[in-house]
Amino acid sequence: MLRLDKYISNATDLSRVEVKRYIKYGDVTIDDEKAINGAQKVSGDETICIEGSAISFAENRYFMLNKPAGVVSATKDSNNSTALDLIFEHRSDELQIAGRLDIDTTGLLLITDDGQWNHRLTSPRSDCQKIYRVTLGIPITPDYAEKLANGVWLKGEKHPCLPATMEQIDDETVLLSIAEGKYHQVKRMFAALGNHVEALHRTQVGGIILDESLEPGDYRALTDAEVASIMAPTA
Ligand code: URA
Repeated sequence: MLRLDKYISNATDLSRVEVKRYIKYGDVTIDDEKAINGAQKVSGDETICIEGSAISFAENRYFMLNKPAGVVSATKDSNNSTALDLIFEHRSDELQIAGRLDIDTTGLLLITDDGQWNHRLTSPRSDCQKIYRVTLGIPITPDYAEKLANGVWLKGEKHPCLPATMEQIDDETVLLSIAEGKYHQVKRMFAALGNHVEALHRTQVGGIILDESLEPGDYRALTDAEVASIMAPTA
């Protein structure tokens, strides 16, 4: 059993003093009964509400953000706004980015406070496929699909990339599916083919597809099925 004020302040970003004030003004309920004081004991099985909104304690959180251009995939940055600046949640300092995108890349960015889940997605052993819509500077030539399938060799790397698959959309646009997440990987892959990336948009990570209803800068919680779709890597 935990003191009510400590419980609420752990589960939210409210200080103990702020919690006491909510209790004093009758804005906290425990199973629909007004809380009396901060010293009351709770087990965590109760439904505790502040101003009518239920709080939950220490459950892992998972979000998808439709990342706009100009935002960095970092928790802090002194020059640019960060992906976490767009996430309005309690305890946002506990959130981490699962698989970064470059500042100019848009689309699906996953954010969580579950370190193990993040590791499953981003570990080099994970074979989680990522799909990008790639707009190229010059028209695609017929040899691209085969070269990508054979594994292109990036400048400065000791090994070629894992096989990648490509679906052509028009003369300058492809959907590219890759399993790795090397630094600037997609841009470097097309540079190795003598082209350059004009725009890059991530549409999918594993079984998680960017929700089309999210405007750039908007986010939503993942469904349980989306969270569960990221499996532990096979040994
Ligand atoms: N590959 C890149 O080059 N940039 C990204 O943001 C993601 C993958």
